[in-house]
Amino acid sequence: MAEIINKLCTIILIVRYVTAEVNERYYPRYHLAPPHGWMNDPNGFSIYKNDYHLFYQYNPNSSLEPGIAHWGHAKSKDLFHWEHLPIAMYPDQDYDKSGVFSGSAVVDADNLILLYTGNVNHPGEDPDHEQHQALASSSDGVNFTKYSNNPVIQGEEHQPNFRDPKVWKHNDTYYMVLGNSFQNNTLGRALLYASKDLISWKQVSILDESDGSLGYMWECPDFFDLRGRYVLLFSPQGIKPQGDKYKNLYQTGYIVGDFDYKTNLFTPVTEFRELDHGHDFYATQTIVDKSHRRIMVAWFDMWEQNYPERTDGFTGFMTIPRVLSLTRDGRLIQKPVKEIGTARGKLLRSGKADRGAAVTLTDKAGEIKIKAEGNKDLEVIIEASNATVTLSYNYTDGRVSLDRGGADGLRRTKWRPRGKLRWLIYVDASSVELFCGDGEVTFSSRFFPDGPTAVRLGDESDVQEFVVNAMKRTVLKPPKGN
Ligand SMILES: *[C@@H]1O[C@H](CO)[C@@H](O)[C@H](O)[C@H]1NC(C)=O
Ligand SMILES: *[C@@H]1O[C@H](CO)[C@@H](O)[C@H](O)[C@H]1NC(C)=O
Ligand SMILES: *[C@@H]1O[C@H](CO)[C@@H](O)[C@H](O)[C@H]1NC(C)=O
Ligand SMILES: *[C@@H]1O[C@H](CO)[C@@H](O)[C@H](O)[C@H]1NC(C)=O
Ligand SMILES: *[C@@H]1O[C@H](CO)[C@@H](O)[C@H](O)[C@H]1NC(C)=O
Ligand SMILES: *[C@@H]1O[C@H](CO)[C@@H](O)[C@H](O)[C@H]1NC(C)=O
Repeated sequence: MAEIINKLCTIILIVRYVTAEVNERYYPRYHLAPPHGWMNDPNGFSIYKNDYHLFYQYNPNSSLEPGIAHWGHAKSKDLFHWEHLPIAMYPDQDYDKSGVFSGSAVVDADNLILLYTGNVNHPGEDPDHEQHQALASSSDGVNFTKYSNNPVIQGEEHQPNFRDPKVWKHNDTYYMVLGNSFQNNTLGRALLYASKDLISWKQVSILDESDGSLGYMWECPDFFDLRGRYVLLFSPQGIKPQGDKYKNLYQTGYIVGDFDYKTNLFTPVTEFRELDHGHDFYATQTIVDKSHRRIMVAWFDMWEQNYPERTDGFTGFMTIPRVLSLTRDGRLIQKPVKEIGTARGKLLRSGKADRGAAVTLTDKAGEIKIKAEGNKDLEVIIEASNATVTLSYNYTDGRVSLDRGGADGLRRTKWRPRGKLRWLIYVDASSVELFCGDGEVTFSSRFFPDGPTAVRLGDESDVQEFVVNAMKRTVLKPPKGN
């Protein structure tokens, strides 16, 4: 009986999602987006009872502002066909009443456990908010109960910016990396905590901190090993633009180094490097899945953009999940997970192509593969009646760029193909993701094309392969808008 009622509740919820007013013109076909309302950071990325679970910062009330954060929730077998689930956590406790902020998940003895930041605002006071770490758990992956003795970490000495716990288990100990701001909120850092039971936590080290060049606050830190090295991945706020670097309002990047679980000390061996070079990439979250892949997703948006989708009933989506690997010289490589094949549709064209060749995408979505000579310029244009994104490789100066036009439209970074030039491009209603070569350089940017959207080779760009596939709708279709 309970099960039937649960099923009915789920059906009613789905009907409510479908009838929510979302205009589909910019709504993604194969990226996860909120059913309606506002989405920001991915949270609680996990695998529980054979499903991928992905939570996110969610305002169900409005797509115009983040509001008071809830945790939205979706699950999937393949990272593309997502099923929306009921809101996992509401801001309904004294310690999280101003926002159930970002956090992560671990599976412990058949329970899905969430660790997150409870935010409490104190308007007009100094500081005007405080943040503590809290725990919630579920035995069915849908219904979450907050721990009765929350918060589990007070962190008086680290107030007021003390958030975004990312938890993992090593041997028989749980570790948590947390974002923090110190010296009167002028410098960012990542703190490391340890616990045997997820309840009682002790700070064991400061993993790394800003010397002034890496911002005033580090959000959404993550820490993991790849190839015997350790990667500290985080989203610093307050780094100033420097030439082609750090041009977004906030950045996301990483430092590679060595780590010793006996001393809990991290020794960086690389400088900080931006992970993506587009306009819209923030607040990453990673997991290791059953086939030992380190999979990452990011919020495919940026603060303070006011993109036109906000008046369409939704804001924000997630990037394509990407597998991370590390090169010998400490650079992260990103590849779309192979499950992207489950979203691949009809082949629209293949084979070589001459300059000017063009293909109209189906439903504003597609996968485009390019192979060309590595010692020539290349230009690929994605265009609709009122929006254009130009992707270019400049052989002379060894840089690749994405230009979406308008104010601050250009993003650019150094890149040279090894041998042939290979690009993999994903377009989805209001987004483009470019993977260069093996994924050593990526660009993720939003753009807002109206009407039929096409991909065209530049006036001097002859290529050896120009393969275009349609992409299927794998995300629940919102109703038709105007
Ligand atoms: C948001 O929606 C919830 C119900 O989902 C409601 O209880 C709450 O009052 C709303 N908050 C605001 C600020 O509108
Ligand atoms: C969720 O779990 C709590 C605690 O186990 C229980 O009291 C409540 O009835 C559950 N709610 C649903 C909808 O299953
Ligand atoms: C954890 O386990 C690994 C492999 O089993 C072992 O080498 C190591 O000494 C253990 N302890 C710590 C603190 O890493
Ligand atoms: C922080 O600011 C307060 C008030 O402005 C000042 O008294 C204090 O010395 C500062 N502390 C640090 C560590 O800079
Ligand atoms: C295209 O037009 C729509 C309105 O029809 C607008 O919302 C959108 O911002 C425009 N895009 C660009 C790049 O101008
Ligand atoms: C490529 O870069 C060089 C050096 O910055 C510049 O002179 C040239 O105009 C660029 N080529 C194109 C096609 O933009």
